[in-house]
Formats: sequence, C-alpha cells, structure tokens
Amino acid sequence: MGLRRKGQAFHFQENGGGYDIIKYHGYTWRTILKEVSFDKKYFIETYGCQMNESDTERISGQLEELGYVPADILDDADVVILNTCSIRQNAEEKVYGKIGEVKKLKGKKPGVLLGIAGCMAQENKGKLIERMPVIDFVIGPYHIHDLKDIVSRRGAEGSHVVMTQMNPNRVNDYSELHSVRKSRIFAWVPIMQGCNKFCTYCIVPYVRGRETSRTIDDICREIEKLAREGYKEITLLGQNVNSYGLDFHDGTDFGSLIHAIDKIDGIKRVRYMTSHPKDMTFGMVDAMAASPKVVRHMHLPVQHGANEILRRMNRGYTIERFKELLKYVREKMPGITVTTDLITGFPGETEDMHEETLTLLKEMKFDSAYTFIYSPRRGTPAARMTNQVSDAVCHRRLQEIMNVENEISLSLNKEMEGKVYTVIAEGETKQNPDNWFGRTSGNKMVIFPKAGSLSVGDILKVRVDTAQTWILKGTIVE
Ligand code: 5AD
Ligand code: SF4
Repeated sequence: MGLRRKGQAFHFQENGGGYDIIKYHGYTWRTILKEVSFDKKYFIETYGCQMNESDTERISGQLEELGYVPADILDDADVVILNTCSIRQNAEEKVYGKIGEVKKLKGKKPGVLLGIAGCMAQENKGKLIERMPVIDFVIGPYHIHDLKDIVSRRGAEGSHVVMTQMNPNRVNDYSELHSVRKSRIFAWVPIMQGCNKFCTYCIVPYVRGRETSRTIDDICREIEKLAREGYKEITLLGQNVNSYGLDFHDGTDFGSLIHAIDKIDGIKRVRYMTSHPKDMTFGMVDAMAASPKVVRHMHLPVQHGANEILRRMNRGYTIERFKELLKYVREKMPGITVTTDLITGFPGETEDMHEETLTLLKEMKFDSAYTFIYSPRRGTPAARMTNQVSDAVCHRRLQEIMNVENEISLSLNKEMEGKVYTVIAEGETKQNPDNWFGRTSGNKMVIFPKAGSLSVGDILKVRVDTAQTWILKGTIVE
C-alpha cells in the first residue's frame, strides 16, 4: 500500500489486521497524520478564454461536492481535468504536452482519472480517446452538470465516457451549479453561450454552438447571491455580449440586462466581454454610459484595419462604421479605456493591407491590442482559402504591430501620471509583499506600496506616479 505526500511515497506493510509504516522519509506518525491528506484530490489546468476560467470554477464545484479537494501539484491528483481551448493551434499543442505528463503520472499511479473538457473535447469527442486511450472521459461544455456522474461511473465501472451533445437550454441551470470561485471579490458571470457570427477564421461557432442567453432573472439571481456574499466586481461573459437576449425575440437586449443589474446593491463594478462592433448599438452605449456600475473599459475587437480583409473575415462592419462607433463610445464615456484584438497574416493579407492595420492603430489609439498570428482551424472557410501568408511574414508583421502599439500604450499610460484613480485592492504582488496591486475602472493594473491595514476588496484612491507599457506605479492617497 502506498500513500503520497507532495509526490513522495510512504510505504506501508501489512501487520496482521493493520498497517505499519516501514519507511516514512523522516516523518513521525504525528506529522504524517497532520500533513497527509487521505482525501482524494483534483487538479484542473485551464487553457484559453475567461469562459473556460468560469467553467473551471463550476467543474471544481462539482468535484468538491463529490468530496475531492484541490491538489497543489499535478502529481498529487487523483482526478486531472484539462479544460481546453481550440482557438489557435498553439493552445492545442500545450494540451497535448500536458496529456503526455499525465500519461507518465498514470504510469506511476494507475488509478488517476484524466478528463478532457472545453472546446477540444467538444470538437473531437470520442476521437480523442481513440487516439489517446490514456484519457478516461471527454466532457463538452454543456455537460458540467453530468461531471459527478461521469467521474463516479468511470471510477466504478472503468468504461470510457464521452458526453458532448449540445444542450443549450442548460445555460439557464448555471445558478444551480455549485461553483468554487477563485476570488472572493471578483466573479465571472456567463450571460450566454455560443456564437452565431461565423467569422471565417473562427472555430467557436462550431464548438460552442448557437447563441443561447440566460434569462435576466437567472443572471440577476446569481449576481444578487454574489452581492450577499460580498463580491464587489462581476464580469459578464459571452462570446458576443452585444447580441445578448436577441434569441428571446421579445425586445430584451444587453441594455435591458445592464438596467436590471444596476438595481443590485453591493456590486460596485460591472465588466463585460467580449463586445462586437457589428452588434453594439448606440442605445447599448447609452445604457452603459448611464450606468453607475459599468466600468470605463471596453474590449472591442476590430481584428483588422483593411475593409477587404474584414469582408473576407465576415465581420459584418467596415472600418468606417467601426470608427463611427468608437467615436460615439468615447464621446459618451470620456476617458474610457479601449482594448482590441487583431489578427495578422489572414489569408491574402498584402503589405498594403498590413499597413492599413498600422495606420488604424495610430489613429484609434487603443490602450492595448492583443495581436494573434492567424492560425488555420479545421473546417473553417478561411482554412480553405488559397493565399495563406508565410510564417516569416506573419512574425515580422506581428512584431511591427507590437512596436507601434507598445508606443501608443506607453504614451496613453504616461497621460495618467499625476492623476488619481479609484482602485479595488486585489492583494500583494508576487515579488514583494509590501507592494499591493489593483485595477482602475479602465482595467489598468496599478502597483502601490502597502499603507496601513489593507484588505482585499478595499476601495482606494491611488495616484499614478510612473507609467510603464503594461503597468502603473502609484501611491495610495485615500
Ligand atoms: N487565428 C488567430 N486568432 C484567432 N482568433 C480567433 N480565431 C483565430 C484564429 N483562427 C482571435 C480573435 C479573437 C480572439 C479571441 O482570438 O482575434 O478576437
Ligand atoms: Fe469567433 Fe467571430 Fe464569434 Fe468572436 S464573433 S467567437 S471571433 S465567430
């Protein structure tokens, strides 16, 4: 019989009705009883977007209801779940690397269960197990409710389990699912699942299915509970929050949701992501601007600076419409931080088109831009386009975009120097416990020396002293 403590084995010998420890690596019985947990442990690795982060919290909730406790390291786990992402090839490769690690662990500890969740699970279904029999179960995003059953079944019966049917109505059961949230101040709140947009490069509509919104009642019930538990900030999640509620066909939209959330006491800040320039209406901008809670930050992916590429991406807007929208957003919410996503190296992107992206960046002055090299995804229209751009050109263009954007980010941050912002304290920095950090309403990270007694969630006034490209350094003034 073996027992483990942080990857070390303790060896036991049967002794007529009981077990004696014959080798204990220098620990006394007392220490062992104190330090060794006989509970079963789980380890979850999360890849990709915030929706996966949020799903992981519900997956943890299900495992904890089964009596599992979190493992600090992979080697300690009895159940390992990889909550995967298919958005780009490199996200998938990381998962394959991790499956290799779990395979080695199973060589030493055969009882370990390995489950694949998230988008790779939904996309590849049972084929994952055919290719890699080390996987015990595959569970799509609509089956978190079934996890307890799946884990018990695989443990007891030993049969592989695959559950990947799309079951969109389940989005309205979210509030019934126990969730182990990472933070006691900030919480993710999914408001919808899926995407109807079918941008030609994107795999999301194929793996997450059609847009299905949670009802305003269900969402508000969850947020009211969070407020009672002391949460201060929530982030509403959806692939395209601006089409929230349109599937009800009763006039409900993102603006109606904002109005309802505004009435919930206790919640100080409401974030939301991701916005879509095609579906965001001026009315929604007005609702956000009028809200005392909606933050002054908008993540508004433009994806490219050339109309021809936007058309072939099937984005549904032109650069002119994008500029008009952003102008309105900035008029209604002065000082708002705007961030964006860009794809470089989309099939057929010429040097001139790439220059149009650089020009757009200089004109629009985004606070930051997350830039990705186009990654062909199986089954999407863009993957079948003929004029793919070479790796070398993609890397050079990516670097050029980052050079331009970094300069802009720095100069916008410099404009914040000397000004005072409201920051919610998030905790100590990893490097120095005397320094704390928090974010402004515009989602800018500020580091400041601890002063007096600080608690996570405290609302502070912080003056920005020095600005860098990614972070700001400041001092608490109140
Ligand atoms: N290749 C590169 N980037 C992609 N994104 C989505 N699909 C792809 C792809 N195939 C980017 C988009 C999106 C962000 C979440 O990921 O910019 O906004
Ligand atoms: Fe993908 Fe486009 Fe939907 Fe975003 S809006 S998830 S990029 S298809």
